[in-house]
Amino acid sequence: MSSGTTVVILAAGKGTRMKSDRPKALHELCGRSMLGWVLDACAGVKPDRIVVVVGHGAAEVEAEARRQMPDMDLAFVLQEPQLGTGHALQVAAPEFGKCDRVVVTYGDMPLLTSKSLEDLIASQKGHSEDDAADSVALLTALVDDPFGYGRVVRSDDDLFERIVEQKDASEAEQMLNEVNLGVYCFAHGPLMEDLGRLTNDNAQQEYYITDLAGMAAGDGRRVLPVVLEDAAEAQGVNDLAQLADVRWQVQLRILEEHMANGVRIMDPSTTFIDHGVTIGTGTEVLPCTVIRGGVKIGEHCEVGPFSHLRVGAVLEDSAEVGNFTEMKKSTLGRGSKAKHLSYLGDAEIGAGANIGAGTIFANYDGTHKHKTVVGDKAFVGSGTIIVAPNEVPKGSTTGAGAVVTRSAKMAEDETWVGLPARKLPKKG
Ligand code: UD1
Ligand code: CA
Repeated sequence: MSSGTTVVILAAGKGTRMKSDRPKALHELCGRSMLGWVLDACAGVKPDRIVVVVGHGAAEVEAEARRQMPDMDLAFVLQEPQLGTGHALQVAAPEFGKCDRVVVTYGDMPLLTSKSLEDLIASQKGHSEDDAADSVALLTALVDDPFGYGRVVRSDDDLFERIVEQKDASEAEQMLNEVNLGVYCFAHGPLMEDLGRLTNDNAQQEYYITDLAGMAAGDGRRVLPVVLEDAAEAQGVNDLAQLADVRWQVQLRILEEHMANGVRIMDPSTTFIDHGVTIGTGTEVLPCTVIRGGVKIGEHCEVGPFSHLRVGAVLEDSAEVGNFTEMKKSTLGRGSKAKHLSYLGDAEIGAGANIGAGTIFANYDGTHKHKTVVGDKAFVGSGTIIVAPNEVPKGSTTGAGAVVTRSAKMAEDETWVGLPARKLPKKG
């Protein structure tokens, strides 16, 4: 069903202060691009369409947006040259489609939640069709240091009058501490008319989106500043220090979600878990652990301290990985353990197996990666090197320091020792 909402994401800016060739919106936050997080928040309000205004790195930005939102109606408009936020919206206007309202947000504000966008839309809609037909809502925040932001100017009876940019503000206006966050909800019809009325008659000779709100108020229409409850949501990313700051906020949200699901995270401040990781109830994640996107961890597992679980790592229920163990494209079966100093790469490990301290799966021959299979209840002794492709079958054992070369053909329940490992005859 149509929601009547089109969302526009402004992401044409170059992001000069990032000092990076990468388009700003494609910088990574916990295993997902900044744009991915923004799109996710926008998708939360169930728009009919999302229009992304692109400039620098347009093709890459478009490809990433489509990858993140394969099922969304997405449109892309190239803004070149970039003559200001109002100009960006003018350029986007032909792609708004049939809608009742247009929500505008930025591609570099990844902490803004769907909830805040919903509140904004609810204010714009008001209580009647009359309200909704021509009103404007905008997100604002009360801040201690408003420098650099557009300030909200209110009348004596506290109604919205206009926004004045830092560079256009008088000294008195610079004292105002209600700032414009750059996130708006406009009634579609009047917006289309007002876009044609914008001028660049200001200190920066830019077309200001903010003037649209001033115009609406000047015409006597409802303009509603919606004060953001948590101003931290509006944190923008303009440089790498802000990226790090925002990354931590995103990280905390991810960790809180796992904790709410019954995952014990002993020290959130040293735990790195990407977007898109599943962890079962009753699992404990110990400090200084890095878990990358797509990793799957079952129930009642133990991970860390100092573990690194990379792409394709799977821990079945009650499995344990510990100190300085790295896993990649490997499954650790139910109740199996790899507690110390190991590298598990391209391995499939059955249930109840023990991977001794310092075990290495030598999966790479310099050209190709090869697989190792470890059977149920196998006991891999400390310091074993398994040269892949290889198999350590069910119930078999390797002695400490064994090097199991490719030519070894271990069978079930056998014990192999030595360097290179050779078969040890069975006793008695
Ligand atoms: C704008 C607002 C200001 C508000 C501030 C909040 C205007 C005129 N001012 O400031 O009131 O306090 O945001 O951060 O809108 N962009 C384009 N095309 C352009 C210009 C900008 O796509 O031609 C995009 C940028 O990529 C960025 C966003 O719009 O994501 C904001 O641009 P920025 O230059 O940071 O905003 P300001 O004009 O400083
Ligand atoms: Ca900015």
